[in-house]
Amino acid sequence: MTVKPSLNPLVALTQQSMSDVNKVILDRLQSNVSLIPQLAGHLIAAGGKRLRPMLCIAASMASSNNTTKSPESALYLAASVEFIHNATLLHDDVIDSSDQRRGKETANSLWGNEASVLVGDFLFARAFELMVETNDIWVLKKLSVAAAQITEGEVKQMSMLGQPESPLSDYFSVIKGKTGVLFAAAAETGAKVGGGNEIVCEAFYQYGLALGNAFQIMDDALDYGASDSQIGKDLGDDFSEMKITLPIILAWQDSSDKERKFWKRTLDTGEQREGDFEQAQLIINKYSCIKRTLDFASAEVEKAANAISIIQDSVLKDALIEAAEFSALRDS
Ligand code: IPE
Ligand code: IPE
Ligand code: MG
Ligand code: MG
Repeated sequence: MTVKPSLNPLVALTQQSMSDVNKVILDRLQSNVSLIPQLAGHLIAAGGKRLRPMLCIAASMASSNNTTKSPESALYLAASVEFIHNATLLHDDVIDSSDQRRGKETANSLWGNEASVLVGDFLFARAFELMVETNDIWVLKKLSVAAAQITEGEVKQMSMLGQPESPLSDYFSVIKGKTGVLFAAAAETGAKVGGGNEIVCEAFYQYGLALGNAFQIMDDALDYGASDSQIGKDLGDDFSEMKITLPIILAWQDSSDKERKFWKRTLDTGEQREGDFEQAQLIINKYSCIKRTLDFASAEVEKAANAISIIQDSVLKDALIEAAEFSALRDS
């Protein structure tokens, strides 16, 4: 029997520092304007996997050869990365009109779009304050670039709406921007504050990028294949939002003329009726598009593992490889 890859080893190895990161997170979302901690606290208290800050901490530990604790500046950095992530989630749920996140009602459902956008901006600003506290201009530069690329990814995705004939290269550029680069920057900058040299930092960048890509590819597969309670978000959001993800592009490529008319009606003109999502799932399964989507995710996992092959063997390295495997096989 094969054991499913899990985040548990990484969680265990980063536990001590992550509890300090959580303190920084809770401390820095405070504000005299009570709606801010209320709304941000709602999202943050709902948890989430904290995968990006964990990778940041793990990379800092791996490059400082301290297997139990990360350097102090990594705590601010990790909190900053989680703030950027949470800011993008607040904005993303407005853009995607989502009403479930982390198994709870979204902030936009509870407080409205305006409040969500503004508190997202607040978290972005706080993320930059935290970054400055690392006293490392290189780190600041890397995360600023990543923050701009996230928005580029989201805007590019928006401009692809309704175009299932889009090339795979466009899809890969979207997921790299909206998801991959933040994972990459989290790992790379973590390695830097841990004292890693240029080669080690680049290895962690490539590792984070490939893991993040795998993670988003899996997320896009789950939107057609999982159940709401599994993912803590609404199933089928991508379809109703006419989002062009990998399962759709692959299905379009193999679809008959009749099926292509269906995709155009539902995803381009946006005319969706009851039963359309199930029909979409049927076509996707007919051409094994979920399986093929997952194969792309597996290829990214291999890239991630190869990227960190240059670092010294350790339980931490094994946990990092398992975290990459988890990203492509997770069911939540
Ligand atoms: C959700 O990210 C957004 C995507 C990139 C798919 P996560 O699945 O890491 O979200 P949380 O933080 O664990 O809720
Ligand atoms: C996640 O994108 C948001 C960002 C990476 C900025 P999605 O819209 O694909 O993810 P979920 O499904 O809402 O978490
Ligand atoms: Mg979304
Ligand atoms: Mg989105």
